[in-house]
Amino acid sequence: MTRTITSIEDLRLIAKRRVPRMFYDYADSGSWTESTYRANSDDFQAIKLRQRIAVDMTNRTLASTMVGQPVAMPVALAPTGLAGMQHADGEILAARAAAKAGVPFTLSTMSICSIEDVAEHTDQPFWFQLYVMRDRAFIDRLIDRAKAAGCSALVLTLDLQILGQRHKDIRNSLSTPPKPTLANLVNLATKPRWCWNMLQTRRRHFGNIHGHVEGVADMSSLSSWTATQFDPRLSWDDVKRFQDRWGGKLILKGILDPEDAENAARTGADAIVVSNHGGRQLDGAMSSINALPSIVAAVGSKVEVLMDGGIRSGQDVIKALALGAHGVFIGRAFLYGLGAMGEQGVSLSLDIIRRELDTTMALCGLRDVKDVDRRILAAVCGCQSARADTHPRDFGSFSCGDGPVATVAGAATAAPPIIGSPHAEALGQSR
Ligand SMILES: Cc1cc2nc3c(=O)[nH]c(=O)nc-3n(C[C@H](O)[C@H](O)[C@H](O)COP(=O)(O)O)c2cc1C
Repeated sequence: MTRTITSIEDLRLIAKRRVPRMFYDYADSGSWTESTYRANSDDFQAIKLRQRIAVDMTNRTLASTMVGQPVAMPVALAPTGLAGMQHADGEILAARAAAKAGVPFTLSTMSICSIEDVAEHTDQPFWFQLYVMRDRAFIDRLIDRAKAAGCSALVLTLDLQILGQRHKDIRNSLSTPPKPTLANLVNLATKPRWCWNMLQTRRRHFGNIHGHVEGVADMSSLSSWTATQFDPRLSWDDVKRFQDRWGGKLILKGILDPEDAENAARTGADAIVVSNHGGRQLDGAMSSINALPSIVAAVGSKVEVLMDGGIRSGQDVIKALALGAHGVFIGRAFLYGLGAMGEQGVSLSLDIIRRELDTTMALCGLRDVKDVDRRILAAVCGCQSARADTHPRDFGSFSCGDGPVATVAGAATAAPPIIGSPHAEALGQSR
């Protein structure tokens, strides 16, 4: 039975059927109890929007910028390792879909398709994500390769120097390509489409590493090399060194604490990403959306603040923007599309999010995504005060104490001034 695809959840269900278990589980999992993974999405549900009526909804625009680059909507594809195992040639397909949709694609260090391969098979510059490894000569070469390939921003990930444990990956003996164990062969036999596509490609290894590191020629040496390579001594001095070598737009990813955000802003980076790695690292850490307001309050005037984690809809995107994010990354939302239907699936996931964002913005009474701010949020509380931005207690807690409380941590100090905000006048009149 074919089912019409209307949401990211529909794509997830198809991906679950089509992608081998070890790679589907690799995407749809968080560390240990997965509490932070779940909180990333669940905490979006607690945030309520203000419905507005009888306002002009014509001529809407989602166009914005991310690190100064024009984007069709403020949504980038997050770096995700092994995307080329969700679907054959996955990184190239996702990069093409992103380019068609006018949004940035970020290639992971741990991608299957290499930097050069993606550059050769796409016609738009993409962003490159860097993990810091002990072999600094290799890191320098990676930065130089990204520059040579014309990458337009470097995303330096700072929250994965040691690995949070994902039970499913251990149980599934995750490897690329999958080992020919009985369990894997039985599972692969149920995924003919995936197998057929994978047989058509030669891209089945970590493309940025395989053949680029001395003494790492075959798979067994490669997996032991990666397991020992992430450098736990990474410091802010190192960040400065990579920044100098790169010399272009720099985005620091994995910031969840205002003090770290202050340190990150001091580096002079162009943007930071409020992120807990999609709930894959510190289980028990707060959700990204709850961490966002206090970070915006701390550094929002000094550095562009982006966020990721738990975004599965355009409604989630607009809530993140309302709480001060300049833009967002999506990880699983596009991976499910990729696993379900390759490039077409990624295009579909971006289209679903774009439509949801556009319609939601209109129903909140706005026409320009750049105008989205806290005034589109409603207080969720027994007192029925509708506006989160002028709520009697504080609009960050979303409650005056008379009703159910939905907390957005740190939001009380994060309030952008309403009077004098660039959009205040327009909002006051049109909404
Ligand atoms: C399967 C998978 C692989 C990932 N690999 C990387 C990676 O290689 N580098 C990185 O910086 N982040 C990686 N991440 C984290 C994402 O960049 C992003 O922070 C996260 O997916 C956002 O959460 P969401 O999936 O709920 O949107 C990965 C996430 C997933 C789901």
